[in-house]
Amino acid sequence: MVILGIESTAHTASVGVVDDQARILGMASDMYRPPSGGIHPREAANHHVELLPGLVTKALQDSHVDPAELEAVAFAQGPGLGPCLRAGATVARTLALMWDKPLVPVNHCVAHVEIARVLSGMDDPMLLYASGGNTQVIAYGSGRYRVLGETLDVGIGNFLDKLWIALGGTFPGGPAIEAHAQRGSRLWTLPYSVHGMDVAFSGMLTAALAYRAKGATLEDLAYSVEVTAYSMLTEITERALAHRRRTDVVLGGGVACNARLQGMVRAMTEGRGGRSFAPPRALCVDNGAMIAWTGHLAYSAGRVVAVERSAVEPRQRTDLVATPWRAG
Ligand code: ATP
Ligand code: FE2
Repeated sequence: MVILGIESTAHTASVGVVDDQARILGMASDMYRPPSGGIHPREAANHHVELLPGLVTKALQDSHVDPAELEAVAFAQGPGLGPCLRAGATVARTLALMWDKPLVPVNHCVAHVEIARVLSGMDDPMLLYASGGNTQVIAYGSGRYRVLGETLDVGIGNFLDKLWIALGGTFPGGPAIEAHAQRGSRLWTLPYSVHGMDVAFSGMLTAALAYRAKGATLEDLAYSVEVTAYSMLTEITERALAHRRRTDVVLGGGVACNARLQGMVRAMTEGRGGRSFAPPRALCVDNGAMIAWTGHLAYSAGRVVAVERSAVEPRQRTDLVATPWRAG
């Protein structure tokens, strides 16, 4: 059984073709990069509308799968930017109608979690989902993924992107900050904002920009921001592990590509007798394969939606979607 998944929640348009063993048979992606500043939703959506048809063709060709062999077409229903979500949903509806296949709605956050979980081979890990718009510590319980802790203001990736753009760089900021941080050594004291299992980043943004105005180097600032922000994420993840009496952690989302964050979480879990896992880069960032794989799980549990009821949900939360495939 093979499923095609379409991702278009924010900057990335991506199509993945995945089988029922989570083998990625084909994937084609293209990220919208604004010439300056942050993402403009309408421009990102135009990018997706232009590119998605070609990405569908390429993903199918690479996978040597004929549309007739597909079990369903899955799409990211939310959360995300309205115009971007609608671009992907429109393509998915068209394909479902054209090929006469069921349409399966997928929550983007649950998809980050599920692809990381299947690749890790861990059955029931704690999840640290650190991406552009989201920062959540998640555990499964009673029919859905429960958010145990999360950001109280912006997602960590958006914070890194915003900071980098304010410092004169371009989107995306996370990878550029990582490269600069490797050459930094001085630790500037930044607000360490942990509230129980929640975190906040806006105070760090203000403080980092103030240090820059006082002459802090980009390398030292990047280093200080990474050490502070990733320590906060590691702390709340450890607290969640302790409360839930678990030992293993899976990372997901674009910021989970970061080697320092991976290292901190690894050290923390190993110190507790457990282990951690992060997917390879292409499957940490937004990708169609995670939508296809989660679409397969959902479809196997009976989840389909009629085209006329398949409206996108820009604010759909992780803990509001049922995950019947995890029952039992
Ligand atoms: P969401 O899942 O919240 O919708 P998203 O769709 O914006 O997030 P992802 O592709 O999951 O996107 O993550 C993108 C984010 O990951 C960007 O903010 C980017 O700066 C960040 N990022 C990518 N690589 C790295 C890295 N090596 N270190 C830190 N951050 C990174
Ligand atoms: Fe994402």
